[in-house]
Amino acid sequence: MTRHIVFGAILTGTGGPGEHNRWLDPEIPGDASVDIDWYIAQAQLAESAALDLVFIVDSQFITPDSPPHYLSRLEPLTLLSALAARTKRIGLVGTATTSYNAPYNLARRFSSLDHISRGRAGWNVVTSGDGGTAGNYGLDEHYDYATRYSRAAEHIEVARKLWDSYEDDAFPRDRESGRFLDPARLHRTDHRGEHFSIVGPLNIERSPQGHPVVFQAGDSAPGRDLGARHADGIFTHASTIAANQEFARDIRTRAAAFGRDPESILILPGARIVVGDTDEQAREIELAQHRLSNTFEQALAELGRPFGWHDFRQYDLDAPFPAETLAFAERSFKTQAAQIVDRAVSEALTLRQVVEQLSQPRRSPFVGSAETVANVLEEWFRAGAADGFNIYVSAPSQFRRFLDEVLPILRSRGLARDGYEGTTLREHLGLVRPENVHTARRGTEPLGVPALLDA
Ligand SMILES: Cc1cc2nc3c(=O)[nH]c(=O)nc-3n(C[C@H](O)[C@H](O)[C@H](O)COP(=O)(O)O)c2cc1C
Repeated sequence: MTRHIVFGAILTGTGGPGEHNRWLDPEIPGDASVDIDWYIAQAQLAESAALDLVFIVDSQFITPDSPPHYLSRLEPLTLLSALAARTKRIGLVGTATTSYNAPYNLARRFSSLDHISRGRAGWNVVTSGDGGTAGNYGLDEHYDYATRYSRAAEHIEVARKLWDSYEDDAFPRDRESGRFLDPARLHRTDHRGEHFSIVGPLNIERSPQGHPVVFQAGDSAPGRDLGARHADGIFTHASTIAANQEFARDIRTRAAAFGRDPESILILPGARIVVGDTDEQAREIELAQHRLSNTFEQALAELGRPFGWHDFRQYDLDAPFPAETLAFAERSFKTQAAQIVDRAVSEALTLRQVVEQLSQPRRSPFVGSAETVANVLEEWFRAGAADGFNIYVSAPSQFRRFLDEVLPILRSRGLARDGYEGTTLREHLGLVRPENVHTARRGTEPLGVPALLDA
């Protein structure tokens, strides 16, 4: 195996889902999620260990029960632009929804980030799990799944067309001849689709990576198809090695059916890593962290999120779990909600038991001594359950232990890199730079066609 394990760092300052009291950790500034210096410090730390990327998750709907990081955080593209100026090599991946953005705007912003960072931009494509987002964009309700995913697919297709507006050599900028632009290398977009009509072209030249790296997050069948068809990398949950092997197999089978090289897609589960001096001590740290993270009441309130923030506090805790609430998830995080309901029904659980199960220590697979964690990461990688991992940076001390203790073991096994060989995120990930479609066509078509007239 020649490829290294890809590592990303998910920066959720004061605490993401299930981490309501994480901010009490004295190492975390209370305003970490809006403090650019905190993000810069984390990104530079990750870069000093030659991690592939930092990853910024995002959503645009909150309630008072949202986790602290979600209550007040920086907008991803603005944040990543600032990080671009204070880092040199690490990839910068931001989440942006295709449901509440226009392709022209997003293509332009990610291309700008790719220029600003000199080729380190990545876009995590989501369709917005939080249905309430609709209310912030003038809609009464969120799009249904079919619309969300067909819009997402077309959105990515259009973004790629826009990123090819200019060919790589479109700007001679020749002072002698006074020639700034070669107009034959500029192409209109002229997209007419089900969801979008865009004339184009995009008003920014082709970026260092050609196209910023595209990630996708969404686990349902249409979500998997979207990733398998359009994404360079997939962000998913980590459950068991067998379940993630099956997920990876499924994605690769779908990719092959779309005519893609299945091995070219990177699958990156999110990993909660806890390192102790011994396996036993690591489990104790995990338990202590968990106790700190969440109370029963917080977990009960947060249970509503995948169900469109339905309020479960209205139900009898000791009655059977109200399975009919799945209807509230129809336009939210349906896959996650269905998993909760299926389990509650098959195990005949009460609402209290469901919340207790969800708020119990999750027993992440990636907990143990540095050696154990390195072994498990290697096992997942070699078994084809993951090409790499997006690591949740929650307790700062734990992130440092991962960087200082686990990574050196993986490096000694040739599984993690010592330093960066390339400069772009594509190079870090071993992804090819896409050829401009117009340049490719130029090889097969007569020259001299006025470019702005072609479609
Ligand atoms: C691992 C993972 C991470 C996600 N991250 C985000 C996110 O940061 N912001 C967001 O709005 N949606 C996020 N989503 C939600 C998806 O885009 C999607 O809307 C939701 O999962 C429902 O689709 P599904 O049933 O296909 O999973 C994420 C989903 C997964 C599986």
